[in-house]
Amino acid sequence: MTPWLIIVGIGEDGYAGLGKAARRALLDAVEVIGAPRQLELLPPCVRANRRAWPSPFSLEPVLRRRGQSTCVLASGDPMLFGVGASLARQLPSSEMRVLPAPSSASLAAARLGWALQDCTLLSLVARPLAALNAHLRHGAKLLVLSNDGTSPAAVAALLRERGFGASRISVLEHLGGEAERRIDGLAADWVQAETAALNLLALDCVAGEGARRLPLTTGLADGCYRHDGQLTKRDVRAVTLARLAPMPGELLWDVGAGCGSIGIEWMRAHPTCRTLAIEANDGRQQHIAFNRDALGVPALQLVCGAAPEALRGLERPDAIFIGGGVTVPGVVEHCWEQLKPGGRLVANAVTLQSEATLVSWRERIGGELTRIAIAQAQPLGGFDAWRAALPITLLEVWKPC
Ligand SMILES: C[S@@+](CC[C@H](N)C(=O)[O-])C[C@H]1O[C@@H](n2cnc3c(N)ncnc32)[C@H](O)[C@@H]1O
Repeated sequence: MTPWLIIVGIGEDGYAGLGKAARRALLDAVEVIGAPRQLELLPPCVRANRRAWPSPFSLEPVLRRRGQSTCVLASGDPMLFGVGASLARQLPSSEMRVLPAPSSASLAAARLGWALQDCTLLSLVARPLAALNAHLRHGAKLLVLSNDGTSPAAVAALLRERGFGASRISVLEHLGGEAERRIDGLAADWVQAETAALNLLALDCVAGEGARRLPLTTGLADGCYRHDGQLTKRDVRAVTLARLAPMPGELLWDVGAGCGSIGIEWMRAHPTCRTLAIEANDGRQQHIAFNRDALGVPALQLVCGAAPEALRGLERPDAIFIGGGVTVPGVVEHCWEQLKPGGRLVANAVTLQSEATLVSWRERIGGELTRIAIAQAQPLGGFDAWRAALPITLLEVWKPC
């Protein structure tokens, strides 16, 4: 199908700031759909029928017009956290033409003199603030699309709480428009309770002495987690995640999630990785909820209940980790059945009974058994001796495609 949909990116400088192709598209349009604020930027010479997005927001008015010439207004670059990106998930690119204006991130980088490729771009628009926790590192430069005028104060409070009070914050309001304004300060002494609703935050992160320095790799220190002892310890966790081998966009079932460490580190591997954490114990469910926010993956989904019942109806996963419930009848069966072709199942056993279950599963479905025995040097009298942790038996098996 030839493009029937033109998506025009418009900046705060309105119609005057548009290029020739974008103006032509608007002048020729029959129907223009956009936010009321953007529609008001159009001069009377744009004769098209103007339609505001419905509330609650839906793409339906555009999708309903499939095949009929339609113009959509989006702010800045439509493909950057914008309506263009949402439409591209519903329509083939051959049906649309996108005419971008500079994004707010490009304008911010230009004002600050920051190389865009050195920045991490995040959005708080309708997303939890806790997602920022995954990105707080000394020296990180973050460009954050604010949800509203209260976002800068909320971010400053989070930075202080996490030991990043020395970080520099720039709030860039109405970028590219006549009302453009910049407010600079340190998170430690940020006082402005509210700014203009339309703003972008630039954070130059500086870790103070009390800041927790979370590495990029898996195997976070055990002390990073709130737990009751039911935690896959750091070294075993690192090996387990290496075996689970997360890839962008993949879904993990963390069955018997304990305090959530495996599912959390799976999601920290890439922003598009997702986890369903299945846990039967109430207290541990609360630990998971706390840890997912503290470690910056608030989108981790908690499934409260016992496997295998709690697994019924869940979206089929690309990978499964069984950290608890291996000996419960039906758990491994259901997991293996639901695992997508080409997916992998990793299960850890500590007891003889759970190890026996894994050995018999290996006979049925194949896979590799690995024994992990960790010992740490600890004081004994005036000397040091090896203190061995309980050995772990790990089964890794890939499901044929
Ligand atoms: C060793 S812990 C897992 C530790 C976890 N990987 C972590 O690092 O926090 C085992 C967990 O499995 C849970 N569990 C055991 N049987 C279960 C079942 N049938 N369904 C759901 N959870 C179960 C227990 O409550 C416990 O929290």
